[in-house]
Amino acid sequence: MAKPKVFATHPLFGAARQILQEGCDVEYWAKPERPPREEVLRRVKDKEGLICLLTEKINDELLRAAPKLRVAANVAVGFDNIDVAACTKRGVVATNTPGVLDETTADFAWTLLMAVARRLGEGEALARSGNWKGWDLDQLVGTDVWGKTLGIVGFGRIGRAVARRASGFQMKVIYTDAVHARVELERDLQVEFREMNALLAESDFISAHVPLLPETRRLFDAPKFHRMKPTAFLINTSRGPVVDEAALVAALESGKIAGAGLDVYENEPFIHPGLKRANVVLAPHIASASLETRTKMACMAAENVVALFQGQRPANMLNPEVLKR
Ligand code: DGY
Repeated sequence: MAKPKVFATHPLFGAARQILQEGCDVEYWAKPERPPREEVLRRVKDKEGLICLLTEKINDELLRAAPKLRVAANVAVGFDNIDVAACTKRGVVATNTPGVLDETTADFAWTLLMAVARRLGEGEALARSGNWKGWDLDQLVGTDVWGKTLGIVGFGRIGRAVARRASGFQMKVIYTDAVHARVELERDLQVEFREMNALLAESDFISAHVPLLPETRRLFDAPKFHRMKPTAFLINTSRGPVVDEAALVAALESGKIAGAGLDVYENEPFIHPGLKRANVVLAPHIASASLETRTKMACMAAENVVALFQGQRPANMLNPEVLKR
């Protein structure tokens, strides 16, 4: 019997390719740059499976171009690139990769936090420039991390992993979320719940860990920046549109907040020029980018596809109702 045809918009990693090779006939996009939209639309025409990255929009246009499609597997936990309702309407299973990237992403939120607090970006540039004249008492003085208050906005798996790391820095950790965590969990992690406005006013560092939803779009806007301490820093490893970038630039320019550490942007790969300032540490959406984690993400997407074609339920379905029919 012919194997189901799959298009992967990336060569993936060897371990993921191995999972796929048995049961699927996979066409891989092998060029270093992301595939142009027309190319994706052309290649999905005869495919039953699609493995995609968050840079591909899985919407009505794509689904129309892929009449045989049965599964679209995102190699990412965030799935704001997928119109899940449109997939459901056409009976296409959509999947993501939750759980495997929490710790790696939490590590990176801390990387940004430490880097911006201790002015690592500026220090690194100076050390490489050839202009460093030697030690000086007030050279690149930053702000302490230890002993400060960390505010976590969005207390899911990644927010909790960020919280766990704070105890080594003797920090007070507060969080806000649509739902309160269980009392035992709050006790174990030594965290306290705050309403958003209280968290904004109290935190020295605020780290965003919410998914991109209509209600979280531009969650951090001008009024929120007004509520923050002028010495506070915003860290964002979630999704760019969670922050109103123009308002953030204005807050940084006027000294409403002290700085930011950013991994994600409103219109990637465009970065607002106003963010390219000394008190902002910028990264190109790499919070989950360890080889171990990215390999696990690719394998998870591959397993989701293989499971569906073997007549099983993929482990990470975003629209399980498709298979209940
Ligand atoms: C995701 O998985 O949603 C990240 O943004 C990439 O790891």
